[in-house]
Amino acid sequence: MNNTHKDNIILGIESSCDDTSAAVLINGKVYSNVVANQDVHTSYGGVVPELASRAHQQNIVPVVDKALKQANVKATDLSAIAFTKGPGLLGSLMVGTAFAKSFALGLNIPIIDVHHMKAHVHAHFIQKPNENVETPNFPFLCLTVSGGHTQIVLIKSPLKMTIIGETIDDAAGEAFDKAAKQLGIDYPGGPLIDKMAKDGNEKRFKFTYPKVAGLNYSFSGLKTQFLYFLQEQTKSNSNFIEENKKDICASYQSHVVSYLLKKLALAIKETGCKDVAIAGGVSANSKLRKELINLGAQTNCNVFIPSIEFCTDNAAMIAMSGYFMYKEKLFAKQTVTPQARINI
Ligand code: KG4
Ligand code: ZN
Repeated sequence: MNNTHKDNIILGIESSCDDTSAAVLINGKVYSNVVANQDVHTSYGGVVPELASRAHQQNIVPVVDKALKQANVKATDLSAIAFTKGPGLLGSLMVGTAFAKSFALGLNIPIIDVHHMKAHVHAHFIQKPNENVETPNFPFLCLTVSGGHTQIVLIKSPLKMTIIGETIDDAAGEAFDKAAKQLGIDYPGGPLIDKMAKDGNEKRFKFTYPKVAGLNYSFSGLKTQFLYFLQEQTKSNSNFIEENKKDICASYQSHVVSYLLKKLALAIKETGCKDVAIAGGVSANSKLRKELINLGAQTNCNVFIPSIEFCTDNAAMIAMSGYFMYKEKLFAKQTVTPQARINI
């Protein structure tokens, strides 16, 4: 592509957890989105923060280089660099932040500090060069479900978002990953539970809903319930897990999904929103995707489901947030520091 000085070219950088990613967005369209996953955590049953930041340090330069090359963009063509400021693991965030700051300083271009959970919502606005996909109309609702968050967000405009419900303890992604660990499934367990559940009977085992008022969620009780269920069953049959893994995964997954959508249905009723979306790693879940379509039909709402590539952590969504912020000239100072926890 022959870039002109009028083009708005944003490099996005994501390093909040265990994926190092870089993406290039030209005039709001994504031209590259490179993600390097970190296999190093698999055998530990979860992300090891020190190993994650070390892997980010190894990956960041080749990942950015690949993203620029794939988009056919030179560093000197860039208009701005957007990076994840938080929330996330501090050591991981520091790698992306330090890289973005020094790269931008050398190029004399602005930096844009992006909120990771807002960026998950912005995944709904990512378009490929020849695509013209339908995007949600404002105001809309987004169930944002990841490894660290579970939120029902009311989005009034690209940058105006309010959390109207959220988990009071664990996140939905954790509920999947921790259940997977108890079943002897490697980290991250969410995608593997999803895979096993495909051939299982979801009606076989029953679980109860945690009692939390309004639009909030709780997943820590469910984790304990699942643990006691496995302990009870394995007392009489030590092979219970191996013999019933697919049915256990299907029943548990179905329960988590119906709990997530029960509150989302309440949010639709309370807000009157007609456009409803899901985002974040757990929105890659096939049962959640299917049941959201059913919920849309029941409530007469339009549903928006991101492509799998943009559900889990990726830099295209960071660049997309960056694009919205660039238009408002919402730039960060070179003194900006990453934050493990920040409000939306
Ligand atoms: O958004 P994400 O990539 O990272 C965070 O911001 O946390 O989400 C990761 C989470 C993990 O808990 C992972 O198990 C879960 O998303 N996940 C899934 C699926 N794919 C990823 N959970 C259920 N089913 C899936 N297919
Ligand atoms: Zn995420």
